[in-house]
Amino acid sequence: MQAVLVRAFGPTDGVEVGEIEPPLRLGTEVIVDVHAAGMNPIDWKTVAGKGAAKAVAPLLPWVPGGDVAGVVAEAPYEAHDLQVGDAVYGIANHWRTRGSFAEQVTVPSLALAPKPESLSFELAAAVPCAALTAWDAVVRIAKARAGQRILVHAGAGGVGHFAVQFAKYFGAHVATTVSGRNVDFARSLGADEVVDYTRDRFEDVLQKVDVVVDLVGNVSDDTGTRSLDVLKHGGLYLNVPTGSWPEYAAASAERGLRSSSVKVEADGSNLGIIGRLIDAGDVRVELQHAYRMDEVHEAFAELQGGHVRGKLVLKVR
Ligand SMILES: NC(=O)c1ccc[n+]([C@@H]2O[C@H](COP(=O)([O-])OP(=O)(O)OC[C@H]3O[C@@H](n4cnc5c(N)ncnc54)[C@H](OP(=O)(O)O)[C@@H]3O)[C@@H](O)[C@H]2O)c1
Repeated sequence: MQAVLVRAFGPTDGVEVGEIEPPLRLGTEVIVDVHAAGMNPIDWKTVAGKGAAKAVAPLLPWVPGGDVAGVVAEAPYEAHDLQVGDAVYGIANHWRTRGSFAEQVTVPSLALAPKPESLSFELAAAVPCAALTAWDAVVRIAKARAGQRILVHAGAGGVGHFAVQFAKYFGAHVATTVSGRNVDFARSLGADEVVDYTRDRFEDVLQKVDVVVDLVGNVSDDTGTRSLDVLKHGGLYLNVPTGSWPEYAAASAERGLRSSSVKVEADGSNLGIIGRLIDAGDVRVELQHAYRMDEVHEAFAELQGGHVRGKLVLKVR
């Protein structure tokens, strides 16, 4: 089968599209015919030798890609909920097996959910990792609710555009940081306050925030450290780009704040709930561009630039 192959870690234009043996399946794993594969920053970071590179090194030539939307090609057993021909979406265990930038991928059945009926395969592939990360931060950990003030950094990006919508859906007052060209987009997602980070320092404009969902960290402009200035005493700082600011926990505790990192869980049951919110029209998916598999170098370059609005996907079929 055709796949994007990483033979050695390094610049993303070193990946190749080539032939590889189709994947195998064990126990309750599912083989999915991939129609589209969503792209996430962890994909380029790992290709570049950062991210999860240590874990996947034994799998070289490795196939990147966690997010998948496609059709079940092999089901676990006759009476299983998932059967051949079902349209599904989810996250492959791409640190332990080969990933979804390929014509077929193996996925644990509990990491899959029915594809939302209102979405094409391309739009569905844009959802899993970004939406589940946002769900874990905003719903599972922060328990978003009315009366709560939540600040989402990078509200125009993959995780951010879902985080803003989930926080709003559950009744919180939502503030977000975006660049000028994304101010109207962020408002259209339901953000109550939108700060153009290229013009204003968010800590000059926002105060008394209960929860910061930080999707930037100290990689850019000390966004992590400055976030502590806007939180209420006892407020919660959530560090999502986990390598971006190793000292966040001590810095938060010193200021009387709670903190945690967030690591996305490939949870098909939460993905099923998210799919129902999408089909009901309560949450929408922003897809900036769908690239062909042979355009993967261009896709990686765009992702790596760090200014995608919503998501990028690879069209596989
Ligand atoms: N721990 C986990 O399990 C986990 C899961 C998913 C993602 N992550 C990490 O979380 C981060 C965000 O992921 P993502 O998928 O949302 O990335 P993304 O889609 O690539 O984020 C791009 C967005 O970031 C915005 N942005 C860039 N610099 C900014 C700044 N200084 N302030 C505010 N917005 C800024 C851009 O908006 P403008 O164009 O308007 O600047 C763009 O819309 C990444 O580092 C990713 O690796 C971690």
